[in-house]
Amino acid sequence: MTKVNSLPIGIFDSGVGGISVLKHIRELLPHENLLYFADSKFAPYGNKSPEFIRARARYLAGFLIEQGAKALVVACNTATAAAVNLLRENYAVPIIGMEPAVKPAAIVSKTGVIGVLATSGTLKSAQFAALLESYGQNVQVVTQACHGLVECIERGELNTPATKILLNTYLQPLLDAGADTIVLGCTHYPFVRKLIEELVGEEVILVDTGAAVARHLKRRLLQTDLLTGLDKPGQANFWTNSQSVCAKQVISQLWGASADTVILD
Ligand code: DGL
Repeated sequence: MTKVNSLPIGIFDSGVGGISVLKHIRELLPHENLLYFADSKFAPYGNKSPEFIRARARYLAGFLIEQGAKALVVACNTATAAAVNLLRENYAVPIIGMEPAVKPAAIVSKTGVIGVLATSGTLKSAQFAALLESYGQNVQVVTQACHGLVECIERGELNTPATKILLNTYLQPLLDAGADTIVLGCTHYPFVRKLIEELVGEEVILVDTGAAVARHLKRRLLQTDLLTGLDKPGQANFWTNSQSVCAKQVISQLWGASADTVILD
């Protein structure tokens, strides 16, 4: 093992949503050291311009690489659509992005109608149009931007009456259209999966890409000979620029354990 192998993996999102991906990475790669940056001061990205998101992504990638990241995961569908190509042009480390799981959803749907919950930034992107072009031809795809939902999750409100009412307004049109499969196309949404299940019933299949992203990351690290050789449990370190007094508490709540978090301005 070289020194590079023991370096950490850097992961970022517009906020705390990417922790849903981080958990899959931790499970699949228990010995890797993980660095997570929640850009919560600037969340949500969903309604920001692609230029703004590209500037944030460059800053976050640069920050994590400065901390020694040997690979990066853009644990955000919106930032991937806006910025992953730019990041790959600028940094030599492996960079894993993510996109809504339209392909697997189209395969499992029996009614031929799939719903996609995502941010408006993702839904408006050229990448999403290309995804529909490739995998959405034989199904009807009903999209739904979920304004306000990321903010609820950033506050740790995963099961409040207000979050439930908001979710219900976004899910009903998908159910009315006959969707039997719903894509959670934003990394924040797996944190309200239970509530979604409650609202749509157990017949409806929910798909997200967290586990697939972790598998892809593992494959890339194998191919590039960058997997860690360490055999002790890896550490996870968090940074957030959230202005909320509850920032650390929400990160630990979502991570499921006390999280070592540094608050930046
Ligand atoms: N978690 C992000 C995503 O996967 C973005 C949410 C937002 O900031 O709007 O798209």
